[in-house]
Amino acid sequence: MKFFLDTANVDDIRRIDSLGLVDGVTTNPSIIAKEGRDFEEVIKEIASITSGPVSAEVIALKADEMVAEAHQISKWGENVVVKIPMTEEGLKAVHILSQEGIKTNVTLIFSVSQGLMAMKAGATFISPFIGRLEDIGSNATELIADLRKIIDMYQFDSEIIAASIRTPYQLESVSKLGAHIATIPGELFPKLWTHPLTDQGIQSFLADWSKFNK
Ligand code: G3P
Repeated sequence: MKFFLDTANVDDIRRIDSLGLVDGVTTNPSIIAKEGRDFEEVIKEIASITSGPVSAEVIALKADEMVAEAHQISKWGENVVVKIPMTEEGLKAVHILSQEGIKTNVTLIFSVSQGLMAMKAGATFISPFIGRLEDIGSNATELIADLRKIIDMYQFDSEIIAASIRTPYQLESVSKLGAHIATIPGELFPKLWTHPLTDQGIQSFLADWSKFNK
């Protein structure tokens, strides 16, 4: 399984990358806005830090404008992937871009049928949003299991990026259900590698050790 970092913060990317945990990066317009940096400049910097896929999202809503934006964005790095929203116009753009060999990540997927349409149109990655589905009381992990079953059954080339992951439990669930990739916000990582019993254990080991090494 691969981990992407769901951030445009280059300090977070460098920190987590130094632990060997980063296989790629995803961004969206909200994430880019949070950093207050130039879109092209930050994506180019991220694409130079990681050799894995770096998703950068189009702003246009019409297929021909999305394709034009995608042509620009895809020049920012060999590993840059164009993120396209899950709409009819988005599917049209994905179909054109896949024929041109430009990699796409279809985002804002909330149902099995949306995932199917994106796979069929030629998406390299599909991004179902776990946290936002659970926010409205839907069963998000079942969506991951169903999408994985369909990919394996029909041999689609698309890979699932489980997105909108906010808790360790959500990450554990999507891992068990076959998401190829989970994209994880920087602030969630420390919760994934810490446990209170680990900290207590270290404290008691050191306390016992000091008794014999005065
Ligand atoms: O990758 C999509 C993700 O960034 C959305 O997360 O927490 O805004 O639902 P969230």
